[in-house]
Amino acid sequence: VELVELRPPDTVILRLLGSCHGCPSSSLTLSDGVEKAIRDACPEIRHIETVGRQYAATALTGEGSEQRISPFAIGGRHPWLPAMRLEDLPRNGLLAREVLSDALLFWRDPDGDVHCYRNACAHLGMPLEEGEVDPAGVLTCPHHGFQFALESGECLTVPEVQLEPWAVRVVDGEIQVRKDHD
Ligand code: FES
Repeated sequence: VELVELRPPDTVILRLLGSCHGCPSSSLTLSDGVEKAIRDACPEIRHIETVGRQYAATALTGEGSEQRISPFAIGGRHPWLPAMRLEDLPRNGLLAREVLSDALLFWRDPDGDVHCYRNACAHLGMPLEEGEVDPAGVLTCPHHGFQFALESGECLTVPEVQLEPWAVRVVDGEIQVRKDHD
């Protein structure tokens, strides 16, 4: 969960990240977990709202939004690095690219948004680019069949693990990535 905004006098705006996004149990997580913790610590907060995926770690590239940059673009310790041209990544296409010495996996969803993960299966770290992607954006690892939701990186086979996400942005038709962790 990310704190997006504290709106005086009594409202907090949150964003669900990672595998919370799109999970059918996320409203329960929010009401029984996050909201309760906030109200216990800050009883003056009376309203808790969430914002959607357009703010997630994804480069939004749909019509007229080519320059939109995720908030993960702000203030990171690592530089943005060029990865490929946007036109080289077809919709629902999966591509592996080496960026400096990092092996990355790129997926462009059916809406045209770009997602990036380390190209390492959460099972044994094998590369994923030869895996099958179904129309719902579920990738099956070609090695032992672990499945991942490419929208979030969530592992559907073992929910405790997930793909390692990288920040993505698209500038003048170039996909750029940035590592947001050490
Ligand atoms: S390495 Fe991917 S399922 Fe085993």
